[in-house]
Amino acid sequence: MENPADTTFDIHPIIKKRWSPRAFQSTPIQKETVQRLLEAARWAPSSFNEQPWRFMVGFKGDDTWQKIHDTMVEFNQQWAGNAPVLIMAIGNKISSKGKTNAVYQYDVGQSMAYLTFQATEEGLATHQMGGFSKEKAIELFGLPEDHEPIALIAIGRQDKPGALSPDFEKMEKSPRVRKPFDELVFAGKFGQPLK
Ligand SMILES: Cc1cc2nc3c(=O)[nH]c(=O)nc-3n(C[C@H](O)[C@H](O)[C@H](O)COP(=O)(O)O)c2cc1C
Repeated sequence: MENPADTTFDIHPIIKKRWSPRAFQSTPIQKETVQRLLEAARWAPSSFNEQPWRFMVGFKGDDTWQKIHDTMVEFNQQWAGNAPVLIMAIGNKISSKGKTNAVYQYDVGQSMAYLTFQATEEGLATHQMGGFSKEKAIELFGLPEDHEPIALIAIGRQDKPGALSPDFEKMEKSPRVRKPFDELVFAGKFGQPLK
């Protein structure tokens, strides 16, 4: 199932195509493929080139996959269990100068965006998650105090919506929506649409 963005202006086909399905085939994904996705993430820009992103990478059947899955809220565990790859994105809160990095979350998010575009290009589906226990993640992976788990992402080949339970299938088939362009893009004064 495809679910392209209904855009107001033309955009790059990869951005139009990317979406967040919940139906994943359990077909394994090659380690080299996942390494390419993380290479894309590694080449994201970041403030002062601090590259505050770190990644825990789990392949279904291994200990890291299981731990990442264990941190998820039940809602996410219900659909993400088939995904052959689970990754936890982690942010280093402290800059190389020893100060708080005010934009580490922004930078980690940007690296994840790069990862999703590379995955889409490779024909893979991605679904990011904020619904997980950071405390559990810190404990299970022994994260240092100056690092924070930011988000999870499920990666794999997409399955048919019918592979999901009826409630999830309904969500999968519902239209993708965005706020109107003019509610978001301003010039002159905040709230005044760019015309
Ligand atoms: C940081 C972040 C956290 C998210 N958390 C969850 C989550 O916990 N569970 C879930 O099912 N989807 C989650 N999503 C997916 C969003 O709901 C989804 O990206 C959004 O509805 C837009 O849909 P699209 O990605 O198909 O364009 C999350 C996405 C992001 C970027």
